[in-house]
Amino acid sequence: MKIKFKLHVLEKIREMKNLSNKFYVTTPIYYPSGKFHIGTAYTTVLADSMRRYHQLKGEDTYMLTGTDEHGQKIQEIAEKNGKAPKEYVDEMAQLAKELWAKMGVQYDDFIQTTEERHTKIVQKIFDKFMEQGDIYKGEYEGWYCVPCETYFTETQLVEGKCPDCGREVKLMKEEAYFFNMKKYVDRLIKYYDEHPDFIKPAFRKNEMINNFIKPGLEDLCVTRTSFDWGIKVLKDPKHVIYVWLDALTNYLTALGYMSDDDTLFKKYWPADLQIVGKDIARFHLIYWPIFLMALDLPLPKTILVHNWIMMKDGKMSKSKGNVIYPETLIDRYGLDPTRYFLLREMPVNQDGIFSPEAFVERYNFDLCNDLSNLLNRTVSMVNKYFEGNVPGYNGTPNQADKELEDYSTDKIKKFEEKLNEYEIANALQEIWDLIARTNKYIDETMPWTLAKEEKTEELKSSMYHLIENLRKIAILIKPFMTDTANNILRQIGVKDVDSIRWNDIYAYDSLKDMKVIEKGEPIFMRLKVDEEVEYLKSVMKKD
Ligand code: ME8
Ligand code: MG
Repeated sequence: MKIKFKLHVLEKIREMKNLSNKFYVTTPIYYPSGKFHIGTAYTTVLADSMRRYHQLKGEDTYMLTGTDEHGQKIQEIAEKNGKAPKEYVDEMAQLAKELWAKMGVQYDDFIQTTEERHTKIVQKIFDKFMEQGDIYKGEYEGWYCVPCETYFTETQLVEGKCPDCGREVKLMKEEAYFFNMKKYVDRLIKYYDEHPDFIKPAFRKNEMINNFIKPGLEDLCVTRTSFDWGIKVLKDPKHVIYVWLDALTNYLTALGYMSDDDTLFKKYWPADLQIVGKDIARFHLIYWPIFLMALDLPLPKTILVHNWIMMKDGKMSKSKGNVIYPETLIDRYGLDPTRYFLLREMPVNQDGIFSPEAFVERYNFDLCNDLSNLLNRTVSMVNKYFEGNVPGYNGTPNQADKELEDYSTDKIKKFEEKLNEYEIANALQEIWDLIARTNKYIDETMPWTLAKEEKTEELKSSMYHLIENLRKIAILIKPFMTDTANNILRQIGVKDVDSIRWNDIYAYDSLKDMKVIEKGEPIFMRLKVDEEVEYLKSVMKKD
């Protein structure tokens, strides 16, 4: 009996530990409407990086992505391509998976909203809402934007056109079911107020309140009869379920919510982080939490809304001929520079801009001059002065060494603070500050002079500190640029790069018996600015 009890307690402790050590992150599933430009890749690469960071911290992580496959727009595109909708969306899901593989995105599950595990549960959820009286039958009239699959009221239109995409809208009327949003709106505002971490960055909350809630939140029309490529309402099959009620619930159905096996749901819900672009903020910050409240489920801990990657002349669009695809960048410059640029170039509350000049500049300055040269100089000095053997920590850092140690400790702390606030570009800035400071340390300590003057102890300490900082820098960049990080670690002599954990970053006296590689290999080579800018401009023009 006693033993059994103890086992039970152990099990509980393990469970509790798991609960606090898990990280569930989702990206929206995509409209499979064609090729994915670098903008649409942003959300998922960001999610992957956050996931890798938590993985490095030893947490049990789970990442979900997928494709959003119902609705009139998809039905129309499939027809245009002479395909059955299901055939078309399956091909698109395949393309998405290929892109994520190419972008180094590691997800645990990829859900297609046409899968039965999803459609069946959406029907159940709809029925539940009907039974609870949250959904009622009425008649809808409004201005409908086909590409956005959204109805607008007269006042929401901008110059008579869709307020989201600026395209033509048409007046439509249909018998429809509605979700009683009004019932939940006070609860939602209260929730926003009591959970400051729910919406990041915080200004998005005011945007929701001022633009959508204060003017009066309408009940949401949740069915359509004007097309049939969607999930049918079981008890009234001429209605299909509105694509947003369908799509949003993927975050639950993928975990097996309401199914025979809801182990994953019990383990991972509520999500720790959901990442969405600003255009779909309204759906994720208003309707989604209300659906969850109606299901009596906890809300995700944080919904991160990011801005958009734009071109100098506005939105990326095929008709403007200013689209850049991630494959183009990866094939010519490699995966890590592509991921770095994407994540580095987006301020928290402004759109990021892609330009060929900015891309080449970041590559040459940040990656080549700052990072690659730091590694190269250091590895060759350790070879030159100590035959590749990294000296041990002497325990008595001099003034310059101590300053560098304090600076590093401070930057690591700031990095973690920024990343925990999901300020990715700012977090990366902290790393590059550390890289710059470490380069400056070389100029300050002038190891070549120390060698000439035979100040061996100081020279040893300076090599130790350089290698130690490179090791820290590698750990810091690992979630974003895994191959580059591993390459740095290997070059400085870390034997088992895969066993590195986040906690290894804090120590300043942990390097023992390390030997750098004999001949350093530059991780990034300088690009010829004019040539590459020309190249990028030319690929942006054609399709
Ligand atoms: O919205 N820069 O899918 P989507 C940054 N299927 N992010 C961008 C961007 C840009 N230029 N363009 C798009 C959908 N995005 C729905 C989601 S959720 C239940 C259903 C982001 O393919 C966009 O904001 O139109 C969104 O987060 C993601 O890419 C997919 O957009
Ligand atoms: Mg969209």
